[in-house]
Amino acid sequence: MLMGNLSRLLKESWALVEDQQDKVAGYFYARLFLTDPRLRDLFPVHMDVQRARLLGAIVHAVQTLEDPEQFDSYLRALGRDHRKFEVVGAHYDVVGAALVEALRTFAGEQWGWEYEQAWKDAYAVIARKMQAGAAEDDNPPFWHAEVVAHQRYGRDMAVFTCRTSTPLDYRPGQYVSLESQYHPRVWRAYSVANAPRRDNLLEFHVRALGAGWVSGALVRRLRAGDPLRLAAPMGDMVLDRRSARDIVCVAGGTGLAPIKALIDELTTYNRTRWVHVFLGARDRDDLYHLDELTQLAARYPWLSVVPSCSEDETFTGERGHVNEVMSRYGPWAEHDFFVSGPAPMVRGTMRTLSELRVPSTRIRYDAFTEW
Ligand SMILES: Cc1cc2nc3c(=O)[nH]c(=O)nc-3n(C[C@H](O)[C@H](O)[C@H](O)COP(=O)(O)OP(=O)(O)OC[C@H]3O[C@@H](n4cnc5c(N)ncnc54)[C@H](O)[C@@H]3O)c2cc1C
Ligand code: HEM
Repeated sequence: MLMGNLSRLLKESWALVEDQQDKVAGYFYARLFLTDPRLRDLFPVHMDVQRARLLGAIVHAVQTLEDPEQFDSYLRALGRDHRKFEVVGAHYDVVGAALVEALRTFAGEQWGWEYEQAWKDAYAVIARKMQAGAAEDDNPPFWHAEVVAHQRYGRDMAVFTCRTSTPLDYRPGQYVSLESQYHPRVWRAYSVANAPRRDNLLEFHVRALGAGWVSGALVRRLRAGDPLRLAAPMGDMVLDRRSARDIVCVAGGTGLAPIKALIDELTTYNRTRWVHVFLGARDRDDLYHLDELTQLAARYPWLSVVPSCSEDETFTGERGHVNEVMSRYGPWAEHDFFVSGPAPMVRGTMRTLSELRVPSTRIRYDAFTEW
C-alpha cells in the first residue's frame, strides 16, 4: 500500500518535468559539479546531455524499482560495479541532493513536499543498497590488463585477448565492463569468450556498432600492448551443473562470445548432455569463428553447430533468422536454452521459444543492444 503510494507520487511528479528532461539533466550535472568540482573527473570527457547516462539511470531506477527489496541483488551489484567509477559513499548524498533540486527547479508550482519526500525516500533506499553492495565487496574496483593479441574479422569485427595482472574470478557466460585508453572513463559491457584460465587470459569478441565509441576503438584502434581496465563480472547466463538437460544455444553475431565460454567449460567435464549451437549472422563474412566451432564439433561428439545467414543469397547452409532456423530443428521442449546477441534477435528467439512452450525458467539470455 505504502509502496503503491510512493510509486504514484514518483510518477506524478516525474510527469511535471518529463518534457524538459534535457534541461533537468543540464541543471543536475551543473549542480553536481558546482557542489563538488572533483566529481567531474569521474565522468567521461565528452558528456553531452543526450549521452549523459547517470541521471537517466537514476530516474529509471527510482521509477521502475517499485519495490527495492525485490531488486536487492541487482542494486548491490550496481553499487559494487560503481566502484569502477571511483564512486565513494559521500558522493551519494551530493547526487541525491542535486537530483531533488533539479526536479524541484523544473517542476514549477505543482511541486510539493510530498513529491520531494517521495524522491528523497526512494533515492535513499536505493543508495543504501548500492553502498551496502560496495562495502561488502572484497575485490578490487577494477583489474588492469594488457592486450596480448588482436585480430580483425570481416568488415567490422575483432577478436582480442588480454591478460589481467591478477586473477579475475568469473563464471563462463558472464560479462565484464571494460575501459580502454582511447575513451577514458567510458565503460561498456563485453562477454568473456573463454572459461577462466590459469594464465589469466581473457578473450573478447567485438562488433563496431554504427557511430559507437567504445566498440569502434576496440575493433579499429586497439593493439597488442595496449592497457585496459576490466571491472567485476556480472550476469547470470551461466551453466547449471546440476541440470541433466540437453542444451540449445542461440547466438547472433558476437553473441557467440558467451556461448563459446560455456562450450569451453563444457569441454572440461561434459559427457552426457547434447549441446546444439545455432549461430546466426547476416552473411558469411559475419560467421567469424565458424571454422573454430566446426573443429570443436569434430572433436566433441556431444556438440553440433548449425550456422545460418539471414541476408546472404549465396550461403549454402541454412538461411533465415536464427530463431526460425532453430525452430525448424527440435523438438526442444526438454532443453535448457542460452540466447545472446543483439536485442531484436534475442526478442525474436524469446517469441519463438514461447510459441514452442519452453518454460521461461529454462532460458537464460543476454541482449547486447537496447533496441
Ligand atoms: C550484457 C552485455 C554483454 C555484451 N557483450 C558484448 C560482446 O561480447 N560483444 C560486443 O560486441 N558487444 C557486447 N555488448 C554491447 C556493448 O556493451 C556495447 O553496447 C556496444 O559495443 C556499443 O558500444 P559503443 O560505445 O561502441 O556504442 P555507443 O557509443 O554506446 O552508442 C551506440 C551507438 O552505436 C550505434 N548503434 C547502437 N546500436 C546499434 C544498432 N543496433 N544498430 C546500429 N547502430 C547502433 C548508434 O550510432 C549509437 O549512437 C554487450 C552488452 C551487454 C549489455
Ligand atoms: C541511486 C543511485 C544511483 C543509481 C541508481 C545509479 C545508476 C547508474 C547506472 C544504471 C549507470 C549506467 C551504467 C552503465 O552504463 O554501465 C550509471 C552510470 C554512472 N554513475 Fe551511477 N547511479 C547512482 C549513483 C551514482 C553516484 C552517487 C555517482 C557518483 C558521482 C554515480 C556515478 C556514475 C558515473 C560516473 C556513471 C557513468 C556515466 C557515464 O558513462 O556517462 N552514480 N549509474
